[in-house]
Amino acid sequence: MSTEIALFEESFISPQVQAALPEGYTVRPLRANDYERGFLKVLEVLTEVGNQTKEQWLERFNYLKQHNHEYFTIAICNDRENRVVAAGTIFVERKFVHNNGLVGHIEDIAVDANQQGKKLGLRIIEALKYIGAKKGCYKVILDCSAKNIPFYEKCGFTQKEYEMAWYV
Ligand code: ACO
Repeated sequence: MSTEIALFEESFISPQVQAALPEGYTVRPLRANDYERGFLKVLEVLTEVGNQTKEQWLERFNYLKQHNHEYFTIAICNDRENRVVAAGTIFVERKFVHNNGLVGHIEDIAVDANQQGKKLGLRIIEALKYIGAKKGCYKVILDCSAKNIPFYEKCGFTQKEYEMAWYV
């Protein structure tokens, strides 16, 4: 597989979000060689990531690509430095309820610690909402900590329900 392979079609990327980004930043589907552009490093603001080898990274990337009707991971790149600076995923779940409805789940929103506060997080969410709407989801949901509630409210979300977790 060529290293410049994109996870999914460029047509799922919102032109409005691209236009709203600061100059020198690009929003696009995750690419196979974002391993070298620091994608996993960006995720470290979220939690422990691990020390995946390139081979392990490609194994996961290839799985997501084979399921790219369900998995949409996007990246914002700083073009001059050729680095990933922000990322996020929307996963499209297929339900029976709501007439075989689709629900979008937003996961793993991360902005590099040095790049926070430039509205890149907001743009990632807007871009993921665009994908959810384009796929026909009737709602898009996510889990977050209490301290991030104001951020998601600024992104147009409202608080509903509670998260439950069980760790193996
Ligand atoms: N509390 C209050 N307001 C906030 C917060 C916060 N914690 N974070 C951002 N905002 C506000 C900003 O002030 C801004 O408001 P404005 O429009 O009035 O100026 C607006 O929200 C948009 O902020 P951005 O600049 O887009 O935020 P940023 O690019 O820093 O991204 C994020 C926010 C994603 C939370 C980032 O700080 C980050 O990566 N944090 C660490 C990882 C994390 O917590 N990720 C989310 C996990 S939940 C999930 O993945 C579903």
